[in-house]
Amino acid sequence: MSPSKPVRLSQTTITELMIPAYANFGGKIHGGILLSLMDKVAYATASKHAETYCVTVSVDKVEFLQPVEVGELVLMHASVNYVGKTSLVVGIRVEAQNVKTGIVKHTNSSFFTMVAKGDDDKPTQVPELILENEEEIKRFIEAMRMKEIKAKVREQMDDAKSKIEVDNARSLLKGQRCQIKIRL
Ligand SMILES: CC(C)(COP(=O)(O)OP(=O)(O)OC[C@H]1O[C@@H](n2cnc3c(N)ncnc32)[C@H](O)[C@@H]1OP(=O)(O)O)[C@@H](O)C(=O)NCCC(=O)NCCS
Repeated sequence: MSPSKPVRLSQTTITELMIPAYANFGGKIHGGILLSLMDKVAYATASKHAETYCVTVSVDKVEFLQPVEVGELVLMHASVNYVGKTSLVVGIRVEAQNVKTGIVKHTNSSFFTMVAKGDDDKPTQVPELILENEEEIKRFIEAMRMKEIKAKVREQMDDAKSKIEVDNARSLLKGQRCQIKIRL
């Protein structure tokens, strides 16, 4: 395994034509189709950097900001933004291009955390990342901060969950769009 590698060596772009079979009843592309393509490009990018098989552990910031239409070309640009010991964060920018007008829409930017696995199926160390410009430095720090924030949120959610008292539910849920109708 290489001890360190620049971001550019694993950068990956895939282009896929949006065909009618990918559409929902409203004629727009299913979010799940885009997620599946994102998972593939995340895998390709992470495994090129890690030089081994990688698995998806978590996905952050999946917000589809604009619909994608049948006939558009979807482009996914992916880079390794951050590496830990065995994990990597792959940032993916998704764009949809109308081939006739040339208009390109940015539909979302998401982050996939992948873990490299060795032949024993256990997490294995990945090469360090060589950051060659300001953008790469910013992305690395952003991913580092995101990792810290996620760990805190996870802790707070576990704590909040353990403190939920169903006995207080009626007052807690006042003004919410739900009804309590317990079936015995
Ligand atoms: C990912 C997996 C190997 C982690 O196993 P684990 O026993 O928690 O291993 P570790 O504690 O050594 O963690 C390994 C790395 O994963 C990271 N990690 C673990 N859980 C994580 C989470 N929920 N979010 C982000 N990163 C996570 C750790 O921070 C660590 O990173 P680092 O080495 O860079 O510090 C294990 O959960 C797994 O195999 N999951 C299934 C993945 C899969 O099959 N995905 C396909 C979708 S079905």
